[in-house]
Amino acid sequence: MDDNRPIAVFDSGLGGLTAVGALAELCPNEDLMYFGDTGRVPYGTRSRRTILRFSAQAARFLQSFGPKALVVACGTASTAAMETFEYPGVPAVGVVEPSVRRAAEATRNGRVGLLATPASVRTGAYSDVMGRIAPSVRLTEREGRLLVPLVEAGRVSPGDRVAEALVAEYCAPFLQAGVDTLILGCTHYPLLNTLFAAALPGVALIDAGAEAAAALRGLISRAEPNRIGKLRFFVSDDAEGFSEQAAMFLRRRITEPAEFVDLEEIL
Ligand code: DGL
Repeated sequence: MDDNRPIAVFDSGLGGLTAVGALAELCPNEDLMYFGDTGRVPYGTRSRRTILRFSAQAARFLQSFGPKALVVACGTASTAAMETFEYPGVPAVGVVEPSVRRAAEATRNGRVGLLATPASVRTGAYSDVMGRIAPSVRLTEREGRLLVPLVEAGRVSPGDRVAEALVAEYCAPFLQAGVDTLILGCTHYPLLNTLFAAALPGVALIDAGAEAAAALRGLISRAEPNRIGKLRFFVSDDAEGFSEQAAMFLRRRITEPAEFVDLEEIL
């Protein structure tokens, strides 16, 4: 039976729009709703306790729309608070397992890198999953703390000396470890793809948000085939500035306005 309920996508900020872009392309007939906790981003440098609290509020907000499924595009929430998004009967997909699976398939030399936020790396979630599904793969994990503010400032272009220097510094341990595959385990990092490709020639780059979107597709009952899916955006800060900031992550113009929501107030 056709199921026109929306798919909900969560991120701590706007980076998860990269997953919305991937979903909109994969399933153009699905309604998508997005909540970016832009008033409280970043999550990736916070304690697990705070990440759990923020995530539980976001999950309750998203569930109030009766979605048929949920994508936790935020690497930090996927690793530190995935259980808060799991509601009976509503499949929830985070970024960890889909990206680890793809990396395990992609590697030829059995050496994979992971770059994610400090909070994500601290959980050990990626190595746990890798240990379970591909125990012979050696995972080199590093945090890329300065890359989120870099991307938020729009400093993502080749030729930007600060961006190139930071990416080179964060890539050095992966070059040293000889990885042939790197998981970009944070929503923001795929925007730096060109710089990563230059710093790590020949290394396969795995976009965790896009992998989560692809994994979800197999789990849902589809919407009616010939409809055009609607997009709805919610943020917890600066709804007016949303379309300009969001265009960078979605890689196209956004015509839908964002709606403001204060989770501390409503939950
Ligand atoms: N969305 C976060 C992630 O993917 C990055 C931004 C943050 O630190 O909140 O881990």
